[in-house]
Amino acid sequence: DWTMGAYRDEAIRKIREQVGDAKVICGLSGGVDSSVAAVLIHEAIGDQLTCVFVDHGLLRQGEAEEVVTMFRDHYNMPLIHADEQELFLGALDGQSDPETKRKIIGKLFIDVFQKHAGEVGGAEFLAQGTLYPDVIESVSFSGGPSVTIKSHHNVGGLPEKMGLKLVEPLRELFKDEVRELGRELGLPPSFIGRHPFPGPGLAIRCPGEITREKLEILRKADAVYIDQIRKHGLYDDIWQAFVAILPVRTVGVMGDGRTYDYACALRAVTSVDGMTADYYPFSHEFLGETATRIINEVTGINRVTYDITSKPPGTIEWE
Ligand code: XMP
Repeated sequence: DWTMGAYRDEAIRKIREQVGDAKVICGLSGGVDSSVAAVLIHEAIGDQLTCVFVDHGLLRQGEAEEVVTMFRDHYNMPLIHADEQELFLGALDGQSDPETKRKIIGKLFIDVFQKHAGEVGGAEFLAQGTLYPDVIESVSFSGGPSVTIKSHHNVGGLPEKMGLKLVEPLRELFKDEVRELGRELGLPPSFIGRHPFPGPGLAIRCPGEITREKLEILRKADAVYIDQIRKHGLYDDIWQAFVAILPVRTVGVMGDGRTYDYACALRAVTSVDGMTADYYPFSHEFLGETATRIINEVTGINRVTYDITSKPPGTIEWE
């Protein structure tokens, strides 16, 4: 009889066997996969593991604090909090092309990760939360023409560059199994149920040029939107929900005055694996109430739209 408890024990045994008494570094994104990998490896080898959390300034409201508090204080893991906001936002300044933005973030991420990982003297292994679908996806186009829609930001090539061997304890699992393993390891249910969040973060939800002002507005609007979704009990029915701030300002009227502020788009989709998706059929009441709250609570936004594009032909993110 196969259970996640047995899988966990076996995974811990294998990690110990592979790593011995060597040091391991793990990039922590705050997402479910890297978090489950880190907690599992920490159970196996304790303080031989150090996690590196890169804050690129493109995280959601309160996200960096949440991740650091949970892993450093709650799990007592050695954790390097790399605050590199200035570096990333500086490099992105004035850039509006989606692929250029992704490439800048991807390259800096590797540089920064490498720099901070170097602070952990003598690490021999790099841990990654690679899942089974990631393993298949990377070979599924072999032999045929491959089309890159978006250059996904990942740390491919990094292990060789750093001369590190890989530890990938989730390689045999699907997403729902990773969540089950996370529950087995005692991660909070609210954390395990979190919607996926992309590596390039808010950069791809801020089409066009990224400014600190836009990021601040986006964080506030997104927090109100997610609060609405939770209050209406819809969070777990939705694969992913977020706000995108649009690179356009429009005229509005508030009280006696004219406003000239940003427009935003709400996005919410259902999906099984992120490869295809349908827009979520919110009620008009929900949409109206949410628009009112965002405009009243977030200075800088005076117009709210709802994105009703499915994937394909749209993508889930805006860039
Ligand atoms: P798209 O926008 O391509 O997104 O329909 C599909 C899923 O992938 C996520 N996504 C990313 N995740 N790095 C990531 O780690 C990326 O560069 C990236 N781009 C998109 C997106 O949030 C959705 O879940």
